[in-house]
Amino acid sequence: MYSEKVMDHFQHPRNVGEIENASGVGTVGNAKCGDIMRIFLDIDDDEVIRDCKFKTFGCGAAVATSSMATELVKGKTVQEALEVTNKAVMEALDGLPPVKVHCSLLAEEAIHAALWDYAEKNNIVIQGLEQPKSDISEGEVEEDY
Ligand code: FES
Repeated sequence: MYSEKVMDHFQHPRNVGEIENASGVGTVGNAKCGDIMRIFLDIDDDEVIRDCKFKTFGCGAAVATSSMATELVKGKTVQEALEVTNKAVMEALDGLPPVKVHCSLLAEEAIHAALWDYAEKNNIVIQGLEQPKSDISEGEVEEDY
């Protein structure tokens, strides 16, 4: 049912954790299942993503897609990071079962929310980045996260 890469990233997720004083933080929830993901970005002065970490309260597919997504955005510029779509992440994982495709949206949305946060803090515009719909404010999730 799951590819070897999905199993590997689920059992050995990369980049789990938090970044203190992150350049951008995005927290999103999956409307289908209620799962939550938070992504932290560390971005340098040239707008290159130096580091990316995630925490999720979600299923195995969410863990695997976040792990792969964080690997894919590291070293990219904020503009290039928009190319890390859920489709790109799924391809990098050699696919997901159809019922799990919605799980891969969490990582893409959380990255976008973190980029939006970064752009707002620095008063810049990232071309093609839309305001995240499902961003959750800190207060709403802190208690049960
Ligand atoms: Fe909720 Fe996968 S079932 S993210």
